[in-house]
Parts: sequence; structure tokens; C-alpha cells
Amino acid sequence: GNPDCKVLFIGEAPGKQEDMQGRPFVGRSGQFLDRELEAIGWRREDIYITNIVKRRPPENRDPTPKEIAAYRPYLERQIEIIAAPIVVTLGRFAMHYFLPDATISRDHGATFRVDGLLVVPFYHPATASRFPRIFAQFDVDLRRLPAMVRGSEKRES
Ligand code: URA
Repeated sequence: GNPDCKVLFIGEAPGKQEDMQGRPFVGRSGQFLDRELEAIGWRREDIYITNIVKRRPPENRDPTPKEIAAYRPYLERQIEIIAAPIVVTLGRFAMHYFLPDATISRDHGATFRVDGLLVVPFYHPATASRFPRIFAQFDVDLRRLPAMVRGSEKRES
């Protein structure tokens, strides 16, 4: 991703394709995400994208608390280096990393201040690509991002 980006996207864990290629969101969820980014005039090169857990959990199971804790130092360092003002979490696991009490159906699209970052929970692209009602909400949330970026630039200057 782009280390000078304004928005850092954080997913859950690599899928099979991602694990093989060592790159996040290159499979079906990634293709969906690319199409959605295009809808707001953004490309993958405009953002930085990573995952909470850096290797694929066996059988695609949920990452365990131990796995999440093991990768925490890497993610913390990434967040620090990228220093994007806005973090979009994709799915429950990334949301709970920042907001342990949040609920995705209630809090998606809302903005939260966490350690100086603006954290915006989104549904996971895999869920949004499968369920039309979730897709509609993902789409609304995503289309609000460019204005949020403009807002964060104003605060900086
Ligand atoms: N799902 C994720 O959460 N991350 C990926 O990189 C791919 C699919």
C-alpha cells in the first residue's frame, strides 16, 4: 500500500490467495473492494491495506485471541509508521481490536476517536459482497470517506 495515505484499511486475516501471494485482499474480497474504491475514484495505490493477523488461520477459522495478541506488535508498528489519520476496520475482528464494545450492525459507518486516530468500522467486504442489504450499507459508508479525508486535512492545516 501507499505509506503516505490518509486512510489505513485493516482486515481480519489473509485468505488462501492472500497467504500464497503474501499480499492482503487479492482474492474475491479484494476484487470487490477494488470495485468499491473505484466508485469513489480511489485506487488501491491511494490507500494502505493490511490485516490484524498476518497468516491464514487453518481451515479459514476465526483468528484466536492468542493469534491476535501475537501479531499486535507488528500491527502497532504499521499503524505508527503509516500514521494515517483515518483507520477503516473491515469486519468484526478489526473493529474489536480498537473498539471492544462496538457492534457492527449498530456502529458501522460511525466515527470513533481512539488514541488520536479516527476509527471507522465497516462491514467486511466478504459479507458485503454476499448480502445485498449489507452491500447497500457498505456502499453508503464508503461514499462518506472522501469527505472524512477532506475534514482530516483541514484539521491538519
Ligand atoms: N479477508 C481479510 O480479512 N483479509 C484479506 O486479506 C483477505 C480476505
